Amino acid sequence: MSTSPEMQQLNAAIAEGIASISVAASRDELRSTMSSLTGKKGAVAAVKSSLGSLTDVDQRKALGAAVNEALTQLQVAADQRERELRVVEFAAKVEAERVDMTEVAMSPNATRRRGRMHLVTQATERLEDVFIGLGFQIAEGPEVETDFYNFEALNMPPSHPARSMWDTLFIESDVEGSVVLRTHTSPVQIRVMQEWPPPIYAVMPGRVFRKETPDATHMPVFHQIEGLVIDRGITFADLAGTIESFTKAFFGPGFTSRLRPSYFPFTEPSAEFDIRRPDGSWIELGGCGMVHPHVLRAGGLDPEEWSGFAFGFGIDRMAKERHGVNDLRDMYSDDIRFTEQFS
Ligand code: DAH
Repeated sequence: MSTSPEMQQLNAAIAEGIASISVAASRDELRSTMSSLTGKKGAVAAVKSSLGSLTDVDQRKALGAAVNEALTQLQVAADQRERELRVVEFAAKVEAERVDMTEVAMSPNATRRRGRMHLVTQATERLEDVFIGLGFQIAEGPEVETDFYNFEALNMPPSHPARSMWDTLFIESDVEGSVVLRTHTSPVQIRVMQEWPPPIYAVMPGRVFRKETPDATHMPVFHQIEGLVIDRGITFADLAGTIESFTKAFFGPGFTSRLRPSYFPFTEPSAEFDIRRPDGSWIELGGCGMVHPHVLRAGGLDPEEWSGFAFGFGIDRMAKERHGVNDLRDMYSDDIRFTEQFS
């Protein structure tokens, strides 16, 4: 029986079918191969259609069973090929969508592509590290301040002439509760005194704003760091000693500091401090002084019990000095050729 022409036709159809299934190059191709093999016009269907013309019942049964078996074999082969193709296609997809994470780091031009922290961010982080090393904590305050915190609590009531030391950007002027873009980080002193129980050893870095036309040494937006120490029996000697320790820790052992008499409404006495480079030249850094009793009171502290000192200086200008930048505006031009010079 296995030699009947229908059987031979069927066996050939299976062999050819399995061969074409095994070379299907994709799952789409496999689907169309299968539909032509098992479809109405396929070789198996041709054998199946000859069933009706067989008169011998046993032969018909046997051929019918063989046709079903043939379809099963083709399906098994197709399932097997489908699994293989799934693996191949998945691997191809992974390869096509691969993101080479090593590419940038391994590239010989890697240094050109790597980002860097802004000079001011670098300086701020170093300053924070040095002050933390000296036992200070970090605090921050809002960039939009009320008139009270920016001026009044710092011993500058409305119409106080010292207000003209700061070219203020008012958001609402002359209104009860008016707000300003803070002109310095000093208002954070008040907020810290109001919130933290003394003793206080804090530095407060942040962005400040003044109505300035940008030039080589001024920007309308810049950065300061404020320092505040409140404790019992703090003296001017503690202030001078702290400035000196900071100078050596931040700039290096060859540097030293000096204080010059000055005036700020929120400190009494007040001073400006300069840093001397090892070559003998001086850098003007910032202001400082003993916290004025009015300021202590505005911060909710009793000046009979607590005393302290404060200081503040510009971070941008310090970074400019340190890196020999000629024009402050270059630091904010976002020009990669500028940034690349500093790692
Ligand atoms: N806030 C002052 C300014 O922006 C700097 C300053 C001076 C801060 C004296 C202080 C200080 O804490 O005691 O010009």
